[in-house]
Amino acid sequence: MKTQNKSRLRLAVQKSGRLSQECFELLRQCGLNATPSKTALFYRVSNFPLDLLMVRDDDIPSLVREGICDAGILGEDKYREEGLNGREEPDLPLFKRLGLATCRLCFAVPKESGIEEVSQLNQTRIATSFPGITSKYLKGLGVEAEMVKMEGSVELAPRLGIAEAISDLVSTGATLEANGMKVLQEIFSSEAIVVINPTLQENESSTYQEKFEILNRLGTRIDGVLKARDSKYIMLHAPADKVQNICDLLPGIESPTTIPLPGKPGTVALHAVCKENLFWETMEALKGIGASAMLVLPIEKMMD
Ligand code: PRP
Ligand code: ZN
Repeated sequence: MKTQNKSRLRLAVQKSGRLSQECFELLRQCGLNATPSKTALFYRVSNFPLDLLMVRDDDIPSLVREGICDAGILGEDKYREEGLNGREEPDLPLFKRLGLATCRLCFAVPKESGIEEVSQLNQTRIATSFPGITSKYLKGLGVEAEMVKMEGSVELAPRLGIAEAISDLVSTGATLEANGMKVLQEIFSSEAIVVINPTLQENESSTYQEKFEILNRLGTRIDGVLKARDSKYIMLHAPADKVQNICDLLPGIESPTTIPLPGKPGTVALHAVCKENLFWETMEALKGIGASAMLVLPIEKMMD
């Protein structure tokens, strides 16, 4: 195996799919030149000490565990399933949740199956790509079922007569609907996460410290992008004696700035960051207590 470049972080990412697209979009919003061609499997980011390895998501946990990559971005579902393989709990340190590519792992059954609750899955066969997570969950409920491992097209299983129920990822629900099935119960909600090789945190040699610093720099940028995504910048004019009432209406408001308006005594301009989206109803309520000239702007980046 080649020795790793000491001053660059090696990050494994999924080479295709929704998670991959959202993840590259996030890296670009972090200011990285990250636009590899569709066929590239290795990509050197030119303006940040980061190398990307485009791989199958199934390979990411072992690449990170063995230190071939320093960190990896993958779905929490894959991470948990792989982690339970021969272990009680997933073993790789979780560095960050990304809130991207969210989906739910659910039990689903054919609509006309007559199965209405999870306890009725006792002694059934369940088709799934996630036998580890699914059987652990059922065990916790005292339900015994047989896992039928399938890598894809799991929704076909009941029609093929190889299972009575499935445990699979649901995003829009369109695949279930198209196959005449309904969600019975959610097992857990999954999102994209960053996992790291434990050596990065534990090893005190300068190589690993450097890599950990790079990871934290990237982490700070990611935090900034994610925070900004949910935040809005609001500017408005308000009667000076209504500033407190206005702040009470603004969701997740942080340290507003008030500026006197020349020529308009008793009126101030108020600027503030809101950590949540602002709905029209809130704007109407603000207007109702005297706010005017309201502007709500998206925020691109944030750093504390
Ligand atoms: C995934 C998942 C579901 C579907 C959920 O399958 O396994 O089947 O997407 O999405 P939806 O709720 O928006 O319809 P994928 O497309 O990856 O195919 P595969 O399971 O055959 O690999
Ligand atoms: Zn599927």
